[in-house]
Amino acid sequence: MRNILITGGAGFIGSNFVLYWCSQHPQDRVVVLDALTYAGNRSNLVALDGKDEFTFVHGDICDRDLVAKLLHDHAIDTVVHFAAESHVDRSIHGPEAFIQTNIIGTHTLLAAAKAYWMDGDAIKPHRFHHVSTDEVYGTLLADEPAFSETTPYAPNSPYAASKASSDHLVRAYHHTYGLQVTTSNCSNNYGPFQFPEKLIPLFIINALHGKALPIYGDGRQIRDWLHVEDHCRGIGLIIEKGRVGEVYNIGGNCERVNLTIIDALCGELDAIFKIDPRHAERFSDAPAARGEPTASLKTFVKDRAGHDQRYAVDTTKIESELGYKPVHTFETGFANTLEWYLNNESWWQAVLDGSYRAWVEKHYGAA
Ligand code: NAD
Ligand code: TYD
Repeated sequence: MRNILITGGAGFIGSNFVLYWCSQHPQDRVVVLDALTYAGNRSNLVALDGKDEFTFVHGDICDRDLVAKLLHDHAIDTVVHFAAESHVDRSIHGPEAFIQTNIIGTHTLLAAAKAYWMDGDAIKPHRFHHVSTDEVYGTLLADEPAFSETTPYAPNSPYAASKASSDHLVRAYHHTYGLQVTTSNCSNNYGPFQFPEKLIPLFIINALHGKALPIYGDGRQIRDWLHVEDHCRGIGLIIEKGRVGEVYNIGGNCERVNLTIIDALCGELDAIFKIDPRHAERFSDAPAARGEPTASLKTFVKDRAGHDQRYAVDTTKIESELGYKPVHTFETGFANTLEWYLNNESWWQAVLDGSYRAWVEKHYGAA
């Protein structure tokens, strides 16, 4: 049985992971620490409210006293660290928050964890798992091999640089102090509970509202797409079987050109509206509601500054050492995601119209 502290557990991947872990390990005690920034959503975890094994704490990973108290009070033996500023576009327009949370915040957790686990009379059994991104490796040309765990770091955006910095701190705490760490670097996640600023949820919701689908540059960039459930399974394998001090890449074995994803999304929405006329009543501004192609919303806009051309992830290490294999193909994962957004309009309407923020402020004070 573990006592786990999960940071950023109200965010997209963090909340999927909390729900996954609690379903797989119902005896474990899980403490979520989350600052409920614009990207955190307390309602993602309501299914766990009232369970003795689950505690939610509204707070900042940069608050050293709070982190130290949580580690001590809950006798934490495992930290799974998701909390971060995570959107590249926001990092271009305001890098400061990325430096604060992703670098200072990660260091605060490492220092507090080392003090609690290692600086007493005897070292406590422990594990610190750090969740990172393939963007630390930089960008690939079309014919270059996928990123492996030994690819040199070459982060290009302020987001990627802040995550690279946090990865180095995690590595240094292992190398210098012997902290028992593992790190995972994963590709682009998609699935339920993703904040509608990233490509897939933004485009689904814009399409339903009949708003432009803003394609950066020529739309020929390539990403590897990883369904969040596969990512959670991968992290679970690393926590249970991964070798201490090691880095594991997690990917979906699913490289796609952005335009291919966008065309698939448009085609799928057209088909869904044709099959079920109730969608046209709910989303009367969508082109598909009038029998017009969703693709008519495609709009090429100015490219993102420093836009990475291609990410691809070599998953040989996690597959051969830990038996990881993504279960979702893009087709199944994408259909499941589209269905989730269609069935959970109240979730994303609350995020968009600000009523969720009002709820956070009422219950937790301003974040
Ligand atoms: P997200 O933006 O959806 O969620 C981040 C969560 O962290 C939110 O709940 C937010 O409230 C919380 N948070 C932010 N600052 C905090 C602070 N100072 N203290 C406490 N909590 C704070 O992010 P996500 O997409 O779920 O990403 C989770 C992790 O996975 C991040 O570390 C990210 O770098 C990494 N990652 C994400 C992707 C992806 O495709 N989304 C890909 C690779 C790696
Ligand atoms: P995004 O979801 O922001 O993830 P990342 O930048 O971490 O890869 O973007 C995925 C791809 O989609 C990326 O190449 C940028 C592109 N993109 C657009 O073309 N338009 C958009 O509005 C967004 C958000 C992304």
